Amino acid sequence: MELEDFFALVHPAIAVIVVFPLIGIVINRAWLVRQRRLQVIDGEKSKIPPIVGSEHVAIGNWLSISVVGVAMLGMAYPIFSRFFKNDIFSKESFRAFSVVAIFIATTASFTFLFKAKVKMWSNIFAVLTSVGLIVLGAQPEVFRRNNEWFFSHYYYGIAAAILMIVSVAITQDIYKDKQNRWRNIHIILNCFALLLFVGQGMTGSRDLLSIPYTWKKSIFANVIPKQEHVQNPQHFTFLSIAR
Ligand code: HEM
Ligand code: HEM
Repeated sequence: MELEDFFALVHPAIAVIVVFPLIGIVINRAWLVRQRRLQVIDGEKSKIPPIVGSEHVAIGNWLSISVVGVAMLGMAYPIFSRFFKNDIFSKESFRAFSVVAIFIATTASFTFLFKAKVKMWSNIFAVLTSVGLIVLGAQPEVFRRNNEWFFSHYYYGIAAAILMIVSVAITQDIYKDKQNRWRNIHIILNCFALLLFVGQGMTGSRDLLSIPYTWKKSIFANVIPKQEHVQNPQHFTFLSIAR
């Protein structure tokens, strides 16, 4: 395996080893929090310990960090590998250095989101982090599968990351709101996030299958004429990834 192939595997490996196990733990705690709350409302003596709430939030924070981190890593690999391959740092130096600055600014605003105590600031940092992700994803080096946006690893990934950012930003609102409106909004948004995570497992595995090892790329490029890639949408997908 070439070094480039190894770097291509870092993102999927971290998603499988870190993100998906965390999703399992967070959902387990979420279910227990809900069960306990409903049992207490019904006047039952719940056997579920009250600590499940803070466990859900503590591991939820780690889930949010890992999803945003893995999304940035998923974009950093195609962006920087193509920057170096196509010499973008000297050809389009303003864009290249702006992208580096946006990576740093996005990481910084995400860090400040966890530190912010005032609601207005946590909203600002949540918006800045989300905008940073969208701007990074808008770089031409990132494969967005616009022709099949409804089954796109990029759109699902960015949407899931933004939902995780929103979860962190509304944590205090969930606790403060006695009418449970924020709690219900959180449940609806994150059940949708769960579907997006399932989609990430499927679309990520599909995309992994479409990307050949470096030594295979030159063979494929010779076997399938470029014109055919463009005419045949399936080959087109492959070409777009392997470019
Ligand atoms: C896939 C991800 C997630 C799902 C499916 C999920 C779902 C849930 C559910 C079902 C509840 C219980 C609601 C109830 O009491 O009826 C809950 C509570 C809560 N969640 Fe999440 N959640 C997720 C991630 C997160 C994240 C990333 C955070 C932010 C750190 C978070 C923060 C909270 C908070 C603050 C509560 C209230 C806990 C309590 O009452 O002690 N959740 N969540
Ligand atoms: C929550 C989990 C995940 C998130 C948030 C996420 C996010 C992303 C994002 C934003 C990108 C860049 C856009 C793109 O190229 O589509 C990306 C690329 C990619 N992801 Fe994921 N992903 C996740 C899980 C996975 C998994 C489980 C796999 C495989 C098993 C995977 C495989 C890939 C591949 C192969 C790429 C393409 C990299 C390239 O263009 O060279 N991802 N991911």
